[in-house]
Amino acid sequence: MVTETLYRYTKVVSNFNAKSICILGRQPALGLAELESLYGSDHLEPLGTQAARLDVEAGDINFTRLGGTIKVAKILANLSTSNWAEIEKYLLKNIPPHLAHMPEGKFTLGISAYELGVKSETINKTNLKIKSLIKKTGRPVRVVPNKETALNSAQVLHNSLIKRGGWELLLIANKKDTILAQTMFIQDIEAYGARDQARPKRDARIGMLPPKLAQIIVNLAAGQMKQPDKTPGTWESDIKSSRPAHFLDPFCGTGVVLQEALLMGYSVLGTDLEPRMVEYSKANLDWLKTRYPHIMEYKVEAGDATAHKWAKDIDAVAAETYLGRPLSSLPEPDKLKEIVNDVNTILEKFLKNLAPQLKPGVPVCLAVPAWRSNGGQLTHLPLIDRISALGYNLVKFKAAKPTELIYFREGQTVARQLLVLVKR
Ligand SMILES: C[S@@+](CC[C@H](N)C(=O)[O-])C[C@H]1O[C@@H](n2cnc3c(N)ncnc32)[C@H](O)[C@@H]1O
Repeated sequence: MVTETLYRYTKVVSNFNAKSICILGRQPALGLAELESLYGSDHLEPLGTQAARLDVEAGDINFTRLGGTIKVAKILANLSTSNWAEIEKYLLKNIPPHLAHMPEGKFTLGISAYELGVKSETINKTNLKIKSLIKKTGRPVRVVPNKETALNSAQVLHNSLIKRGGWELLLIANKKDTILAQTMFIQDIEAYGARDQARPKRDARIGMLPPKLAQIIVNLAAGQMKQPDKTPGTWESDIKSSRPAHFLDPFCGTGVVLQEALLMGYSVLGTDLEPRMVEYSKANLDWLKTRYPHIMEYKVEAGDATAHKWAKDIDAVAAETYLGRPLSSLPEPDKLKEIVNDVNTILEKFLKNLAPQLKPGVPVCLAVPAWRSNGGQLTHLPLIDRISALGYNLVKFKAAKPTELIYFREGQTVARQLLVLVKR
């Protein structure tokens, strides 16, 4: 059974000096695990249910590779109140003097509140008060109206709030305090759409893996790769300093995981049982190369993941595996058992085939199916209880429980469960 509550870790992190805020996506646990994977648990603290604080400068966060974070903001101040009237007072007092340092010209302001219990109408009233105060200084000003308490990515992008002359201010409850932060990066929904829908070969039959989820899968594996020093900002340059790490997707389908790994600077090998899928992945990656000429090497070949011998230099494995047949509702128990056993047999055989081909310590992140009833009850693959016997250790995250690493849309029967393993 999946619970939506996030696991909070209570470890006291010494010298934790929060510098930035990440606003997490629709399934916050996935975003938390991704951040923990890349930056390490000592550099991150969950904040409420939708955000995380990092002791990494916003500018040092490689935002374009994050699939589970929708906004990155730099922390400006900690207000020792969570009362909106007090917060409004603070904004009215502090925004105009700060604007004095900005180049002349039109100013656009947006405000997003998280977990402060304030209504969007109240924020709009504050917006108007700030607007009239700024107008009095002679500067042309526009405020973005709040339909919800927080602006969405499209509103921030279309109103140019992260460009010159624009600000999105975030106000996030932190127990009795409020953190004030300014958005620096916003998830580029159009770029995701472009590389998802414009790819020449797509196949609805095998299910569309969203590029954001593919990024999370790659990042969960990447964070486990051996690095001499996993302090923020250094781990990526470590990768760049040697040969690019080499990722394998043994169930590559149309190549979304391969594509996202290439865009992060890795080289990739994809294999798939179906020759048609091999052709699709090749065509899609050739297309990617025309748009991003600097991507690393890629190779795609036919191969049955339960028996294939891959090249020896695999540094990480990332895949959305065989998910079984698509289902629009949960079948009768006997039928479900048959489907689960069928997928479980294939994936166990695959993991057994893969284990002796990997060096100890090589990470494997797999999106495997979990079957969801209308009430949210999940049926998991039996192999999850036998990971150790199959030659791997299951990686646990402090900021998210394994049972929370499940991606699904409301009404979906086949959810994707993310397993992060390391070859023993
Ligand atoms: C859910 S799809 C993966 C889709 C992929 N993430 C994409 O971007 O299109 C699973 C893929 O596994 C492949 N497959 C199924 N059984 C396999 C096996 N034994 N060995 C290799 N590939 C297999 C299917 O052909 C299919 O392309």
